[in-house]
Amino acid sequence: MTEPGFNEASYLQLHKDVRLGVEQGLFKSGWEHYQKHGKAEGRRSTRFDHENHSIKNYSKLVRDLIASHPGNLDLAMAKAIGALTLEIYQETGDKHVHILRQLGLQNGYAIYDLACGSGRTAAALRRHAWQGEYRGADIIPELVEYAQQKNPGYNFFVHADFSINANDATQDMIYSWSLFTHLQLEEIFLYAKDCYRALKPGGVFVFSFLTLQDRMHRELFKNRVAALENGVTHGHLDMFLTEETINIMMVEMLGFQLLGYTAADDASTTPIGSFGQALAMFRK
Ligand SMILES: C[S@@+](CC[C@H](N)C(=O)[O-])C[C@H]1O[C@@H](n2cnc3c(N)ncnc32)[C@H](O)[C@@H]1O
Repeated sequence: MTEPGFNEASYLQLHKDVRLGVEQGLFKSGWEHYQKHGKAEGRRSTRFDHENHSIKNYSKLVRDLIASHPGNLDLAMAKAIGALTLEIYQETGDKHVHILRQLGLQNGYAIYDLACGSGRTAAALRRHAWQGEYRGADIIPELVEYAQQKNPGYNFFVHADFSINANDATQDMIYSWSLFTHLQLEEIFLYAKDCYRALKPGGVFVFSFLTLQDRMHRELFKNRVAALENGVTHGHLDMFLTEETINIMMVEMLGFQLLGYTAADDASTTPIGSFGQALAMFRK
């Protein structure tokens, strides 16, 4: 057993001397090196550093929300992932499940919830009586602990690395709601690259994104520009993508097959309405 967040591939990528040592048989694995030497030497075990914008911004957001909602952890955990009320939290979770079902989700699938937050999708999957092998990863321990407590039997873990904590070609579906909305392009690319590795051939990858093509997203962008003009710092990064940029990264550079896009305001996206973010869907 490795410790939460340790990623063998990342460790070997970060430390070429260790990779050489493993190739030459001096260590059985990067994990063995980390335990015997790397940890004491202060070597990094993941590609995240403590100054990473995601960790800094989301840790602060979650801490502040917990403090400002004494006695109402449920609401704090809903707000932490962007839902203003518990009703919206639940309804959005239901939309997640509708989208996954439309993309072929079946009982028995191995699925990976990249940036699972407080377990909104997992709770909806339970409500919809889905059964299978669920793995949920996030970078914020408080969110992961809450998700685990609310969804016993599901597997949640902290994984602060730009990678998927699953073996090669093991996942039927990987989805990520409102994560690539808050990352830099290079970070998105690293995650997507590792999604490709972890998916089974034929496996599905779906994520949501912000785009200036959408009227509401454009308003958000304009507000951010205005804030910047007035010297106001934002709590977190917002990234606006285009289908062209996504196609270049996912199809041309990584080899995914494009299944399609849906617009953020497309009311037919789910039986209960539009999703609010655009969706990009791919098959390995
Ligand atoms: C808007 S919330 C969405 C949560 C969940 N996907 C949902 O829709 O319910 C964004 C989530 O991304 C997580 N996150 C932010 N940066 C991340 C990163 N670099 N890697 C993985 N998760 C990250 C946050 O901790 C937060 O839980």
